Parts: sequence; C-alpha cells; structure tokens
Amino acid sequence: MSRKRVAILISGRGSNMTALIEAARDPAYPAQIVGVFANKPDAAGLATAATYDIPTAWRWHKDYPSRIGFELALGDVLKLWRPDYIALAGFMRIFTPEFTKKWAGKMINIHPSLLPLHKGLHTHEQALKDGVTEHGCTVHFVTPGMDEGPIIMQARVPVLPGDTPETLADRVLVEEHRIYPEALAMLARGEVTYP
Ligand code: GRF
Repeated sequence: MSRKRVAILISGRGSNMTALIEAARDPAYPAQIVGVFANKPDAAGLATAATYDIPTAWRWHKDYPSRIGFELALGDVLKLWRPDYIALAGFMRIFTPEFTKKWAGKMINIHPSLLPLHKGLHTHEQALKDGVTEHGCTVHFVTPGMDEGPIIMQARVPVLPGDTPETLADRVLVEEHRIYPEALAMLARGEVTYP
C-alpha cells in the first residue's frame, strides 16, 4: 500500500510536527510528510523541518487582506505538495467554513485538553481553574466550529497537587507526541472514518 501524503501546518516551535516527522521516518509508517507550511516567516518549526530535508513554505497571513486570500495562497502550496491529509500542529489560524468543508475528513488537529472540555487557548490554565483531577489531549477532525470536530483519539494525565500551567503543559505534551503519530497512522491506514 502506498504511503499517504501528509502536509503539516504550524505556527510555532513545531514539537508535534517533529513527532510526526520522526514517526514517518520509519518506512513501515503508513504516511510520509510531504511539506511543512507556516502562516508566519519566523515559525521555529520551519528550520527544524528543513533539517529533515522536508520542503517548507510560509505565507504570512498579515500580507493578505482577507482570510480567503490567505487560504488561496495556502491552496497554491498544497497543489504542489498534493497531500492526502493535512495535520495541524499548533497552527493558530481559523479557517473559513469553505476551506474546512473542502478538507472534511482529511484535516486533523491536536488540542491540549480533553475535548469537549477547555476549548480555545490557555487550556492548562482553564483546567487548573476548573479544579479537574484529569487533563489531557485530543486528536480530532477539523470542522468549521473551533475545537468541535469528531474525536479520533485522546490521552489522559493526572492533575497533581502543586501543578502550574507549565508543569501540566509538559505532562500533556508528552502524550501529544505519543498519540498524534498514532492517530495519523490510523487515519492513513483507513482505520478511522469520518462520520
Ligand atoms: C501544542 O500543545 C498543541 O496541542 C497546541 O499548541 C501547542 C503547539 O506546540 N495546539 P508545538 O508547536 O507542537 O510544539
């Protein structure tokens, strides 16, 4: 079976991107990373991807007067890379409903909370404020509603006495790096279907 083509979209350091790239170095992994795209020129993950000889591109969203204009530019890059799937890894832009519909069932995201709890930003602060005893991360399909798409996989971590947003983020991140490659592999093998 041929390996599925995956484009990764980032905005920052790209540690989840690196976890996907590392997993895909195994020839038995069912997906290959065909490109890494960022919505800003200084996303640190771009340099990391280049060290793996993976094609990179960026388009600064601020250079485009509209969300649609930016998405057309992204679309041109994707036409070159011809991905079967898109994996968002710390990508901090919201898509138009048209773009998410075009990629329905083919675009996934990792979110640092146990969705549907703690959507949006500052999820670790939210979890501590709520006093939950368990926190975690979620891989889900991307749909027009932010952090609302069907869930593919989750991992749980305990919230420990004395936790700060930083200690909790570190504990969750270990699980993010574990489940994102697993979830992408399941998708690429056709083991997950979009409802
Ligand atoms: C991760 O916690 C991810 O879940 C969230 O933003 C963070 C990005 O980290 N969406 P990185 O760029 O993958 O290191």
